[in-house]
Amino acid sequence: MTQAVGPQYTRILSLGAARGDLDVPNDDIIGPIDSSDEWIRQRTGIISRKRASKNVTAADLAVAAGSEAIEKAGIDPSRVGAVLVSTISGTMATPSVSTLVAERLGVGTVPAYDVNAACAGYTYGIAQADALIRSGLAEHVVVIGAEKLSEMVDPTDRSISFLLGDGAGAAVVGPSDEPAISPTVWGSDGSHWSSIWMTGTFQQWRDGELESFPTMRQDGQTVFRWAVWEMAKVARQAIEVAGIRPEDLTAFVPHQANMRIIDELAKQMKLPESVLIGRDIATTGNTSAASIPLATHRLLEEHPEASGGLSSRSASERAWSTAPRWYGSPRIRGGHFEPSPRPSQSRR
Ligand SMILES: CC(C)(COP(=O)(O)OP(=O)(O)OC[C@H]1O[C@@H](n2cnc3c(N)ncnc32)[C@H](O)[C@@H]1OP(=O)(O)O)[C@@H](O)C(=O)NCCC(=O)NCCS
Repeated sequence: MTQAVGPQYTRILSLGAARGDLDVPNDDIIGPIDSSDEWIRQRTGIISRKRASKNVTAADLAVAAGSEAIEKAGIDPSRVGAVLVSTISGTMATPSVSTLVAERLGVGTVPAYDVNAACAGYTYGIAQADALIRSGLAEHVVVIGAEKLSEMVDPTDRSISFLLGDGAGAAVVGPSDEPAISPTVWGSDGSHWSSIWMTGTFQQWRDGELESFPTMRQDGQTVFRWAVWEMAKVARQAIEVAGIRPEDLTAFVPHQANMRIIDELAKQMKLPESVLIGRDIATTGNTSAASIPLATHRLLEEHPEASGGLSSRSASERAWSTAPRWYGSPRIRGGHFEPSPRPSQSRR
């Protein structure tokens, strides 16, 4: 009998991004929730959010982001061994978003499945891609976080509607000659199952038991406290298991839930001023599973010196810089460290 064995190490080779085509500033949504531009900016750091037109789906955004990532990885699509789409906003319970995306990416009949882990979805996807490659089940894996959350909000809801946006971020994960994705610290906490919820089930909607189609709600303060205190612990744990120190980091890219959460986490982690921080939420909003790859993509676009620095360090062959990845959700948690794609290694 034989057993599959893969390469010892993996890395992210490239990233891709696609945001909703519409800019929705705070002033456009405050009426139905009796809010103000000032309140939203102060409490969340959001100035405007990206949302997609009616005819655009999460799968469309995923294909756009995934295509860019595959092109930038410089690999033939036939070398993609699996496609994972992390999403909570597919248009149907089945078939999966990922099978449609794999078909449209032209990667053939490879394994494709959806990951339903909300804001943690992308980090869950990277953890699985790393494991699939190292176990010899795939040579390269496309991981995509894709959401059209505007379909899931009630414009009159004051609890969460104003936070959410639409977009997709993608990564190609492949083999590496050196350690480049640290161990993932992950888990879940079902005791907070009801901190973020839907207003009802599809069955209740079908049976006429709901006044309107189910939409999202949250207990904002509970989620806020949980994100800051518990996620800071997970982030510190991820640093520890990676065998690095906060001052070794080039960038910190947490889930883009709320600018105040991002700032508080950076403070608790005692990050030095030199560490770049992903703050894509200001103009994209909270895109759940898409938020970390979107924020990383933007950070590298706005700070090409970070790519240059990483590239120059890669010349030493053993050195690697890290960009932290973790997410905050009351139900599922995970985090790990990984280097941002380096120009010198992004084309193989
Ligand atoms: C949602 C969130 C922005 C609310 O901010 P907050 O500072 O906790 O606000 P509070 O709920 O304490 O409410 C403060 C005041 O603002 C009011 N308020 C609540 N929502 C409001 C809104 N949308 N617009 C204007 N005022 C609002 C409240 O009524 C309250 O008024 P009061 O002081 O007169 O009683 C914040 O809790 C948050 O970001 N939570 C975590 C979000 C998150 O990570 N979600 C994960 C999903 S991926």
